[in-house]
Amino acid sequence: VQPVKNVCVVGAGYVGGPTAAILALHNPAVTVEVLDRDPQRIKQWKSPHLPVHEPGLDHLVRVVRDGVESDESDIPRRQRNLYFTSDSARVIAKADIIFMAVNTPTKMFGVGAGCATNMAAFDGAMRDVAAHAKPGAIIVEKSTVPGGTADRVRKMLAAHRPGASFEVLSNPEFLAEGTAIKNLTTPDRVLIGSAATPAGRQAARTLANLYKAWIPADRILETNTWSSELAKLVANAMLAQRISSINSVSAICERTGADVDQVAKAIGMDARIGSQFLKAGLGFGGSCFRKDIASLAYLAESLGLDDVAMYWRQVNIMNERQRDRFARKVIERFEGNLVGHKLAILGFAFKKNTGDTRESLAVEVIRLLLDERPAEITIFDPYCRQEDIMRELGPGVAEMGTVKVHSDPYLACSQAHAILVVTDCDQFRNTATKKSSWSISDQSTHTSSSDCMDFQPTSQSGTNETIEWPRIAYNMVEPKWVFDGRGLLDVVELKKLGVRVDRVGRRTELHV
Ligand code: UDX
Repeated sequence: VQPVKNVCVVGAGYVGGPTAAILALHNPAVTVEVLDRDPQRIKQWKSPHLPVHEPGLDHLVRVVRDGVESDESDIPRRQRNLYFTSDSARVIAKADIIFMAVNTPTKMFGVGAGCATNMAAFDGAMRDVAAHAKPGAIIVEKSTVPGGTADRVRKMLAAHRPGASFEVLSNPEFLAEGTAIKNLTTPDRVLIGSAATPAGRQAARTLANLYKAWIPADRILETNTWSSELAKLVANAMLAQRISSINSVSAICERTGADVDQVAKAIGMDARIGSQFLKAGLGFGGSCFRKDIASLAYLAESLGLDDVAMYWRQVNIMNERQRDRFARKVIERFEGNLVGHKLAILGFAFKKNTGDTRESLAVEVIRLLLDERPAEITIFDPYCRQEDIMRELGPGVAEMGTVKVHSDPYLACSQAHAILVVTDCDQFRNTATKKSSWSISDQSTHTSSSDCMDFQPTSQSGTNETIEWPRIAYNMVEPKWVFDGRGLLDVVELKKLGVRVDRVGRRTELHV
């Protein structure tokens, strides 16, 4: 195992920042420097207001960046060993290990548009690394990259720095938004892919040693680089596939007497299937699943495996159909006429507890509804900012004047003919009875980026109270439809309030 004194993390985003902080916390003898070409972002990381908001992150950064004493007994007072900078040449030159954590969104132009990965940021950062890294440095892919990237990086390094030897490892990140620190602290596994050579395996052991500071050795899995790169794509594809599978079943349930939640529970109790990621809804949003499936399908296609590509593409197709089916159902309930009606949308973010509007399922639902020329569509989301919602809805929508964003759910739903629950926020449930006091001051502060995970969810304080459905129902107007796209409402209780409820994965008679 090589000694490690200096670690550099390229990319101060959602993955790079928290990963660097955790590495620094558990390896106090190692200096961890986070590099980003955006000086503004570095300034934020150096300030009291971090650009990434994750439960536990602020405190963690204060401990390792500022040397603040931790109030948690398992974190002793430690020296400062986490730094943020834009000085790439200096930091790269002294690093023993360099993590690449820059954004790798879907390519939206040219060959492979909509499927392939846009490697512009990754390649740009790699050019800096190739120019300045010291011979013997270990380069680690943290970003989700197309299979075969490690081989490509090896060739690039050999071309730029003939004579110098580098090892390239794949060490993909599996954290989810909102649980980053938890996922980093107790990961299901750490995956390290290396070249199948003695030097490659030695580099893998050197990296594993950093993780062993807090992760049990049996959770650290070493593979070759192709396996590791592919495993990251496949993990997300399989999770997404479960969601599309249960959503396809929800369509059957809506036409029969079956209830999708009962089906999910029954199959999930089979230990071979397991109960997670079987919640039927509007489909999956977020910056990773759709993108990684597109990348996997593109890889299969480029290998001449068209059937394989088609198989995985179907997961994304099913996801889009589920969302469209939901919007069409709303239109059907109004017998094809939404003119003159007000529709209220509860939730815009792709999942609960985040203000991330990217790949929001609400966007296409709203577009389909707008085609029917309703009088008004109002949106309420406890975490999303108005400007992010409007930007995501695209050009022209704000000018139409039909769509309005409200920071008060009662105002959004007042005089609505229908309410659509789009995000699985606990605040929308009708099972709790706590009174709400909506605050508009606590809104998201995220800056948009197309990077998978490169997002800053908002703080959650003050917005975790459930809405009062009796008040909402009272102020609706006939036919008072509530469309539960996430299966989170208690239908029996809600119906007692005099509203009609249509819940995903359950049959509702067309005329009620
Ligand atoms: C995901 C992976 O979970 C994570 O491991 C990876 O590193 C990045 O991508 P994330 O996109 O943050 O994380 O969100 P996740 O919690 O996985 O949810 C993705 C989408 O699936 C959301 O829209 C969510 O609402 C939906 N979902 C999830 C369902 O519809 N049903 C489920 O049962 C689970």
